[in-house]
Amino acid sequence: MSDTEAFSRLFDLMERYRAGRNSGKLVDYYAPAQLRKKLDLGAPATPESYDELFVWAEKYLQYSVKTGHPQFWNRMWADANMPAMIGEMVSTLAHTSACTFESAPVSTEMEKYLIDEFLGLAGYEAGEGQMTTGSSNGNLIAMMAARNAAVRNAKTQGLVGTVPLVAFVNAEAHYSMDKAANVLGIGTENLIKIPVDERGRLRVDVLEREIMAAKDAGKTPFFVAATAGTTLRGAYDAIYEINALKEKCGHDFWHHVDGAWGGTAFLSKKLTEHFMRGLGKTHSFTFDFHKMHGIPMVCNFLLINGHQGRAGRVLQSTIASGNDDYIFRGADNERPADLGAVSLQCGRHTDILKLFLAWKFYGRAGFVDRFERFLQRAEFAETCVLAAPELELLAPRESFNINFRYIAPAGFDADDLNKTIRQNLYESGTAMVGLGQLNGQTTVRLLIANESSTDADVEAFFAAFITEGKKITDAAAA
Ligand SMILES: Cc1ncc(COP(=O)(O)O)c(C=O)c1O
Repeated sequence: MSDTEAFSRLFDLMERYRAGRNSGKLVDYYAPAQLRKKLDLGAPATPESYDELFVWAEKYLQYSVKTGHPQFWNRMWADANMPAMIGEMVSTLAHTSACTFESAPVSTEMEKYLIDEFLGLAGYEAGEGQMTTGSSNGNLIAMMAARNAAVRNAKTQGLVGTVPLVAFVNAEAHYSMDKAANVLGIGTENLIKIPVDERGRLRVDVLEREIMAAKDAGKTPFFVAATAGTTLRGAYDAIYEINALKEKCGHDFWHHVDGAWGGTAFLSKKLTEHFMRGLGKTHSFTFDFHKMHGIPMVCNFLLINGHQGRAGRVLQSTIASGNDDYIFRGADNERPADLGAVSLQCGRHTDILKLFLAWKFYGRAGFVDRFERFLQRAEFAETCVLAAPELELLAPRESFNINFRYIAPAGFDADDLNKTIRQNLYESGTAMVGLGQLNGQTTVRLLIANESSTDADVEAFFAAFITEGKKITDAAAA
């Protein structure tokens, strides 16, 4: 088969898949052992057979979860949007690494262009930034920059013999914070989890007490992370009040914002004021476009504020290490700095093109509209739960997360019942929704991040959930 024929088969396959992704079953489910049998991964292969290659590709799509299905509510991301998908395919076509200007000139310019746009929107003066592999990585680099700012020689001498460093996060912060504390030699026990209020926001009064207690104990409080959209509840920590603590405690910690989920509120002044007031006075900010904005994975930014005399020097001084002159040649009047020099990886996927095309296609207003539409849909979903006598809301809605469950009749374990309902809906290919633990109870976590879903799909989801709950409890009672 020629490349031209292979392309035409590929486009035919893609067109068929895309046309059917919103309908039919969400997944053609098989238990793992059955699936392994069906896939027969060890089957002998005919060398260089495109026909066989397309059979594998068809199989892959047949048994995958259709994340563009309107009943996919499971994760913070769903269907990839078309402009971004075109960007992803063109990136692959011109396969390169975005580590140097020489190997990726257009990608480097695009990345720098959007970093500058985002620095301006975040209110960061003379700042810098980079695309990373996701907010887990963004959180790690931010904590690393904070560590190196707090301990002058941490990069060269390590932390041996230094005063213990202590970091503070929302008790419901993402687990990537624990991983960062582990990787960076801070120690997970020095990551203090601050209890949350009834809305899931870090309690700033407790944070203040904990910072003072750490200082009294001779430790260095070096890092506080606010979460802009917590994983389970979608809560936004009070950035402005955390900024104000610095003066109150007389202590200048690094203030990072983990906006993996809800951070793109910063694209609008109005939304920033509502959800993230004070963002411009923080030290660093990470956010994902591969979550609610439909950009294929991964698409993340980490921005560093240039205030307090740090202008444009943090990433270089924090990250650049080792003998890299075989690859990086620095900047001159003609050529911008290589982005790979301030990245934790060497090879870098050209993540920018997919976002750049979507940015030009939808405009900033299109991204803001999407954020606002999802908020409205989440509000509608909350009203559906409140109106259904069979369901209960487990936490007030803060943004895009609806935590609810089916009320278990007497004699049923509510946690088990809800897990079973959820699993049955998944295995039957009806709907896919997440689970979590909230105040010691199993919660069903519905996330609004899917452009294919309408209000009618929200209603259909709850109807299916209730029907399944009744079916299970009726069958057990019979
Ligand atoms: C609040 C928060 N922070 C960080 C992350 C990690 O993001 P990523 O998957 O981009 O590494 C997540 C992922 O769900 C998250 O919810």
